Amino acid sequence: MKRLLTTLAILAVISTGCNDEPATNETDTVNTADNVEDVNYAARGQEIADAAKAELGRNLVAAIKEYGVPTAVTYCNTHAIPLTDSMAKEYHAYIRRVTDKPRNPDNVANDAEQQYINKARKQLAGGEQPQPEVSEIRGRMVGYYPIVTNGMCLQCHGDKDKNILPETYANIQRNYPDDKATGYGENQLRGIWVIEMDKR
Ligand code: HEC
Repeated sequence: MKRLLTTLAILAVISTGCNDEPATNETDTVNTADNVEDVNYAARGQEIADAAKAELGRNLVAAIKEYGVPTAVTYCNTHAIPLTDSMAKEYHAYIRRVTDKPRNPDNVANDAEQQYINKARKQLAGGEQPQPEVSEIRGRMVGYYPIVTNGMCLQCHGDKDKNILPETYANIQRNYPDDKATGYGENQLRGIWVIEMDKR
C-alpha cells in the first residue's frame, strides 16, 4: 500500500510538472502559428499555380485545335498568361516555370529549385504524389508545385522518333536550338511552378 501511494505521488508530480511546463506550451503555440501561416501560403500558391496551369492548358489546347501541333509550338509559353488574376494581384505573385531539361534556356532551375525537382522526381517514380513546398526566400514566400506530364504533352516533349511529328520537331529546333525538353513519358516530372508571394 505504501508503495502504491509513493508511486501515485510520483506520477502526480510528473504529470503536474509536464502540464505546467511553460516552455513546452510556448513552443507549441509558436509552432502552431507557423504551421497556419505555411498552410495559407501553400494553399494560396497552389490556387495560383492551378489557375496558371488551367489557363496555359486552355491556350495550348485551343491553339492545337486551331493551328495544329507544329504551329502551336509557340503556345506553351508562360508569357501567354496574363497575370490579371485577383489572387496574383493581391499577393503580388510572380509566376515562373522551371526545369532541369529546359526548352527555353530562361527556364532553367536554380540550385534550390533543382533540389526540390530531384526530390519530387524520386517521389513520383516511387509511386508517391510529390508534395508542394513553401519556404521563405529573401523575405518572400516561395512555393514549389510539381508539373507532371500527360499524353498530350508528349506531342512536343515525348520521344522525337515516336511521339513528335517531324514538322513539330523542325519548329522546335528553329525556335529553341538548344532544346533539352524531349524524351519524356507520361506521368513524369517535367518541371515545377515557382510561385513567389509577398509575405503578409
Ligand atoms: C505544342 C507543343 C507543346 C505541347 C503540346 C506542350 N508543350 Fe511544353 N513547351 C513547349 C514549348 C515550345 C516550350 C518553351 C516555352 C517558352 O519559350 O517558355 C515549352 C515549355 C514547357 C515548360 C517550361 C520549361 C522549359 O522547358 O522551357 C514546361 C514545364 C512545359 N513546357 C510543360 C509542358 C506540359 C506539362 C505539357 C502537357 C500538359 C506541355 N508542356 C505541352 C511546347 C509544348
